[in-house]
Amino acid sequence: MSVAEYFSSMEYGPAPEADQPVREWLARHGEGFGHFIGGAWRAPAAGTFFDVIAPATGETLARVAQGDAADVEAAVAAARAAQPAWHALGGPGRARHLYALARMVQRHSRLFAVLEALDNGKPIRETRDIDVPLVARHFLHHAGWAQLQESEFSEWAPLGVIGQIVPWNFPLLMLAWKIAPAIALGNCVVLKPAEYTPLTALLFAELAQRAGLPDGVLNILTGDGRTGAALVDHRGVDKIAFTGSTEVGRQIRAATAGSGKSLTLELGGKSPFIVFDDADLDSAVEGVVDAIWFNQGQVCCAGSRLLVQEGVEAQFIEKLKRRMATLRVGHSLDKGIDMAAIVDPVQLARIESLVETGRAEGCTIWQPREVALPERGSFYPPTLVTDVAPASTLAQEEIFGPVLAAMSFRTPEEAVALANNTRYGLAASIWSETIGRALDIAPRLACGVVWVNATNLFDAAVGFGGYRESGYGREGGREGVYEYLKPQAWSKLPLRTPRRADEAGHVDDGSRIERIDRTAKLFIGGKQVRPDSGYSRAVLTPGGELVGEVGDGNRKDVRDAVAAARAAGKWSQASAHGRAQVLYYLAENLAARADEFTRQLARRAGVVALDAQREVDAAIGRLFSYAAWADKFDGAVHAPPLRGVALAMHEPVGVIGIACPDEAPLLAFVSLVAPALALGNRVVVLPSEACPLMATDFYQVVETSDVPAGALNIVTGSRSALLPALVKHDDVDAVWSFGRADESTLVERESVGNLKRTFVDYGRQIDWFDRSSEGLPFLRQATQIKNIWIPYGD
Ligand code: NAI
Repeated sequence: MSVAEYFSSMEYGPAPEADQPVREWLARHGEGFGHFIGGAWRAPAAGTFFDVIAPATGETLARVAQGDAADVEAAVAAARAAQPAWHALGGPGRARHLYALARMVQRHSRLFAVLEALDNGKPIRETRDIDVPLVARHFLHHAGWAQLQESEFSEWAPLGVIGQIVPWNFPLLMLAWKIAPAIALGNCVVLKPAEYTPLTALLFAELAQRAGLPDGVLNILTGDGRTGAALVDHRGVDKIAFTGSTEVGRQIRAATAGSGKSLTLELGGKSPFIVFDDADLDSAVEGVVDAIWFNQGQVCCAGSRLLVQEGVEAQFIEKLKRRMATLRVGHSLDKGIDMAAIVDPVQLARIESLVETGRAEGCTIWQPREVALPERGSFYPPTLVTDVAPASTLAQEEIFGPVLAAMSFRTPEEAVALANNTRYGLAASIWSETIGRALDIAPRLACGVVWVNATNLFDAAVGFGGYRESGYGREGGREGVYEYLKPQAWSKLPLRTPRRADEAGHVDDGSRIERIDRTAKLFIGGKQVRPDSGYSRAVLTPGGELVGEVGDGNRKDVRDAVAAARAAGKWSQASAHGRAQVLYYLAENLAARADEFTRQLARRAGVVALDAQREVDAAIGRLFSYAAWADKFDGAVHAPPLRGVALAMHEPVGVIGIACPDEAPLLAFVSLVAPALALGNRVVVLPSEACPLMATDFYQVVETSDVPAGALNIVTGSRSALLPALVKHDDVDAVWSFGRADESTLVERESVGNLKRTFVDYGRQIDWFDRSSEGLPFLRQATQIKNIWIPYGD
């Protein structure tokens, strides 16, 4: 159309952003991009390249290297070589570099924004106004953490070399989320961008070097999933930080099991967008636009499930359809469009096929007739799906496209039940003009981020990350910083020598049984119960003397214990004050029986009385410490750059399975159980196999201390039978395993089912008496942080 025709029709004309500077930069690398390793471009070892396509037009933008194991080797070596000097530079020295990176991003903001829009296919309006400013903010914020590292994290050390794998939906922003905290705290990085969208990472590396970032601190390795898998497998990597699909997250968990690598996973979601009948419906409609049509719905925390209260459902759907008809879909460099291209024809086909599945299942699919799609490129219209059953594919599967599945609810209880009816737990939006209602619902949602009367807000100061199968770990904020550190004391711990299989937990040989008058039972649901098997196990001192018997628990007992823990949800909802009191009682009641515990411990563990007394005293002290912590480990209020706050609430993880080591059988037991209980978790404990009687004696203390039934459950028996049952149980949210390296591996490997959180010692010899065996490292593991955003005003 001519300009005159646009004037007469009042149609929007195109408002294209110039792309000349980007084209020039691409032309300079016309022969193909190598990897960026040790501060230099490096051709791929195997000489293989692949094309990078602009989704909005289908044109080839560039050729980039396909990395293999040899390239991974070179990149990890460069990072390893650079790390000591980078760490030695100190926090303030590194802070300068991060400030410089933030300013570099600002100086080249348009170049980044245009390149990102071309490479990913998303609207320039979003890359210019959201992605790139957030990238600069992220480096700026983390420059501050580098500056404060020595005072704020003095007992923590960097991990070393970090392998980072990012997806294609926010290529540059995800790079910033990954790199900024890692390098701020003294680590060096090998980052693999997604194969669809590697270009802004390469531009970033080039400009970072020009901004003076030392060689080897940041290495970019391009390639597909095979390159990612090679990075995951490399022995020289200390941590993998991954964002992407839940399926690949599972593979990475399995691949790193037992390797000692730290792991954080930011995975998929199916986030609810809940509209109550007292919501400002027009604002909520705009919220939906931002929730599911931002970035074409290719957002892990997209509000892809609309839950509307029945009374306003018809009105809301009507308003929403009207708004959808005004959305404009077009080329990513057109400044006047709302939605642009889907990242790749493969993703487009996936969206189409999922929507067809929904149609076949009886859902009603609605797409506005008014919205025209460009003729070339990968595009999909804004789509509303109604008549959706809660169990249907479109209500359960992550579509990762501009498709909204709508359902209704009657009561707040039903809203919570529907919202939580998913294996994911990334984010949620709540729309209500009654703040009390919104803040009543927010803690009941099983997810890591909640936006009240808002959606898709992000900030470097506010942690982001999921519950359940949306993964674990946080990015952003203080909590994100800890993900790139380890307790200093732990890194120096020796590995314990593997224990012989026959060293502990002897099975009853029958001959000495008459000398035992009492067999300790299991402790499940607040009651002493006999083991399902009907068998007992003899317990011997290290010298071979028979000191008692314990129940020989089996899988059924583990299941009963988990069911009891699940049912004890009240403990998680109890006030922190109430939990503190219970822990004080435990401490006092143990103190009252200290002499008896000391005598028993000395005999059973074969230690001198003085050592036993020291252990009992330490256990009492630890209980008092966690009683103190119970009402003090209490979150934060963040001040992101908007009119409002984000509440970082500490919530219990849920049901934690705990496998205790043999050393310090009473103190280690208390050191693991107390922080979990203090923060509101319910626990199923497998005590030391060699010396389980200290734990079974402890339940007598529990019985007199107001610990509610089911909050603490103890199952004795063969560890090799009980631990796998515990780790494979889908109602267990986390497993902590201390004692043996092979058990750490087992726990990590078997945790993939429901992606439970794991906390293991990899066979390190922990000094349970030391101060480092108490406090923050344990409290963090006992907590998940939910960030609730509450903007103010009209
Ligand atoms: P993906 O999970 O396969 O890719 C993400 C990153 O992981 C890419 O860099 C990829 O090269 C890498 N990767 C793939 N296989 C790997 C392996 N075995 N080891 C290490 N790294 C590996 O995601 P994909 O295939 O691009 O998208 C498929 C679906 O995943 C989407 O439709 C969407 O549902 C979901 N997804 C979710 C994301 C999120 O942020 N939650 C981001 C991207 C995709």
